[in-house]
Amino acid sequence: MSLRSTDTEQLAEPPRDCRLCPRLSAFRDANAQDHADWFNGPVPSFGPGDAQLLIVGLAPGLQGANKTGRPFTGDYAGDLLYATLEKFEFSSGNYAGHAGDGLKLHNCMITNAVRCVPPQNKPTGEEERLCRPYLVERIDSMPRLSAILALGRIAHDSTLVALGHRKSAYKFAHCATHRLDSSLTLFDSYHCSRYNTNTRRLTTEMFEDVFANIAEHIR
Ligand code: URA
Repeated sequence: MSLRSTDTEQLAEPPRDCRLCPRLSAFRDANAQDHADWFNGPVPSFGPGDAQLLIVGLAPGLQGANKTGRPFTGDYAGDLLYATLEKFEFSSGNYAGHAGDGLKLHNCMITNAVRCVPPQNKPTGEEERLCRPYLVERIDSMPRLSAILALGRIAHDSTLVALGHRKSAYKFAHCATHRLDSSLTLFDSYHCSRYNTNTRRLTTEMFEDVFANIAEHIR
């Protein structure tokens, strides 16, 4: 893993007016027409670059991260994620669902496999591929990184490919731990989406079990 540099840091975030994905940029433009006061851009990663933990989500929600400009912020999925981060002391301050709430992350950064909001919350494989270089650079920019938490199978697969592994090399499973090399471990969780929590496919206890494993690994 290379040392963090200003160049790497810049490459880790798409430009505000990224046009790599025609469908996603058209969707952003349409949303900007309807809601000029929303963020409507590639949502930047949130948290300190010297963190040991990187959390990889899927993509911003339309009226959550796409509106507020901060991953999982204002999204239903953020309620469980930010409550759990607070419980495991990865954050301080009060999460209030907007980017101006003063919340700080500690030893943890949050990013998304696809940085722009996709229609129906579903990025295409091609959009995952086009956005992956930003995930590669994000990972490469973190000199102390020792744990990645993939929220859902798409984040798991995209992380593996970003790291140069075949998707089939490590099978996604809730609460699985994959030691990728001597310095990096991949943790899996079902995505903390509204659907998964409402159907109890993912409970608070199940999510906290994953964070307990991560905390034990990095502390
Ligand atoms: N909001 C995000 O930023 N990412 C997700 O994966 C879901 C909601």
